[in-house]
Amino acid sequence: MLGSTTANMVHSGILWQDHQHAELLRCMRRLQRGIMEQSLDHQGLLEIKEFLQWYVRMHFDGEEAYMEHYHYPQAEQHCQQHAALRQQLHDTFTVLEDELGNPDLHACADLCVRLNQWYLTHIAGPDQELAAFLRDQGVR
Ligand SMILES: [Fe+2]
Ligand SMILES: [Fe+2]
Repeated sequence: MLGSTTANMVHSGILWQDHQHAELLRCMRRLQRGIMEQSLDHQGLLEIKEFLQWYVRMHFDGEEAYMEHYHYPQAEQHCQQHAALRQQLHDTFTVLEDELGNPDLHACADLCVRLNQWYLTHIAGPDQELAAFLRDQGVR
């Protein structure tokens, strides 16, 4: 079930990063609720897509700027994961609606699962390692 797979907030101790990760979690929960309650409509999905597009650009660019500024040793692998999610989202976004413009709930559920996997494998993993490195550099 979608409901049992939603990640819980993981705190990195870096204020801006925690705040932005929490925003993503809020978006994921909204998407999940819309699917489970079958209340997701064209407008709601559009808002979620626009948020995710903006979010990925703003958040990844932010983390990558910090990595570059502080010469983070694992920057290359980390940025590769960002690039993979950017591509995944791009591919997923093209199939989220049917030919009438209504949300395809199976495709939306797939997006939800992918975002959840992202949260568990990246935000709870490499992002925490990045945060520990940045905290050592005095970033808060
Ligand atoms: Fe992140
Ligand atoms: Fe990241």
